[in-house]
Amino acid sequence: QASRRNYHEKVLDHYNNPRNVGSMKKGEQDVGTGLVGAPACGDVMKIQIKVDPNSDTITDVKFKTFGCGSAIASSSYLTELVKGMTLEQAGRIKNTEIAKELCLPPVKLHCSMLAEDGIKSAISNYYSKNPKAKATDLGGT
Ligand code: FES
Ligand code: FES
Repeated sequence: QASRRNYHEKVLDHYNNPRNVGSMKKGEQDVGTGLVGAPACGDVMKIQIKVDPNSDTITDVKFKTFGCGSAIASSSYLTELVKGMTLEQAGRIKNTEIAKELCLPPVKLHCSMLAEDGIKSAISNYYSKNPKAKATDLGGT
């Protein structure tokens, strides 16, 4: 197995079968959208979350990534991870968790950073649309 290219199997799996690809309907109040880019390479990632306002829980999540395999795998894995989490839990996800799960090499760490930035940005966007929901301080954007 070790001779199979540079990408780890888990990256290839997400790359070949990305989970939760797509976009939410426009203009929904309970949806937060994060759009982030990686200065290092110009890759772009969009993460959208649908939130149950009563429990502050992420009930659905979608992504679109214009980027490398590691960025696609990072966003795909992120969507699996955050579904069912509270906003507070999702806001605490670190890119290192994603990189570890996918066995990303050091040069690909910034790809997982895109996923961390993406979910944080989606959460901030949700809070900016629903100011009363703000229960967590994400420490700026
Ligand atoms: Fe080209 Fe990421 S640098 S796809
Ligand atoms: Fe830039 Fe992967 S190479 S996000």
